[in-house]
Amino acid sequence: MKTNTSANAVRCAGVQKHFGEGDARIHVLRGVDFEAKQGELTFLVGPSGCGKTTLISVITGLLDSTGGSVELFGANTRQLPPEEQIRFRRRNLGFVFQQYNLLPALTAAENAAVPLLAAGMKRREAVERAKALLVKLGLENRMDTLPSKLSGGQQQRVAMARALVHEPRLIVCDEPTAALDHATGESVMELLADSAVHPERAVIVVTHDNRVFHFADAVAHMDDGRITHSEQRN
Ligand SMILES: Nc1ncnc2c1ncn2[C@@H]1O[C@H](COP(=O)(O)OP(=O)(O)OP(=O)(O)O)[C@@H](O)[C@H]1O
Ligand SMILES: [Mg+2]
Repeated sequence: MKTNTSANAVRCAGVQKHFGEGDARIHVLRGVDFEAKQGELTFLVGPSGCGKTTLISVITGLLDSTGGSVELFGANTRQLPPEEQIRFRRRNLGFVFQQYNLLPALTAAENAAVPLLAAGMKRREAVERAKALLVKLGLENRMDTLPSKLSGGQQQRVAMARALVHEPRLIVCDEPTAALDHATGESVMELLADSAVHPERAVIVVTHDNRVFHFADAVAHMDDGRITHSEQRN
């Protein structure tokens, strides 16, 4: 049984992000307060353009905020020197982007192995581990295929394997089931939910897919650059 007192994996307070300057300035995040707890699968939902991808980009350090604070596992990682920030991200974070961003010259298994290779693991072992995960994701017949020869849903699952393969503490997925049929979407969410069961890990999923809402431990609703309300599901 999970409790509401578990520690935060992510804590955002008053996060602001604008793009552009002067008359062209667009305020995309307008003071976001958001938490994702360790041991939980947190959904981030809201209409197109409300700022979900921007928020998770700020949380994961791909974008700098223009105000407010972001803590990951109790630490403000932006206070670390830049190379430490990179190391922290590489070790502790796994992402699935809305655009899958697979490397076109690498096979499915090699793409999924990238985080392990970046951490210095031997190639053969890294690829074996990636393959074991691809089997769980139903891609046993696509291991040696290049991304250009994979369907959208298959590319999405390779991106998912790449996000999970190094067992990061925080997994962030942008619309991970959008391109999947119901059964495949369920199995992808089961894998994510299993990853979140670990007491020191957390998973954040951005989704419009109401077919998978029953997996959520917590749901944060976003609109027009703010979290409007949050609900705990258990
Ligand atoms: N680099 C950028 N420069 C200018 N505006 C941007 C930039 N990135 C995002 N925006 C704007 O910020 C707003 C929020 O975009 P974001 O991608 O975060 O929305 P979203 O909630 O993820 O939408 P969707 O559900 O369609 O993926 C949009 O109006 C978008 O046009
Ligand atoms: Mg988005």
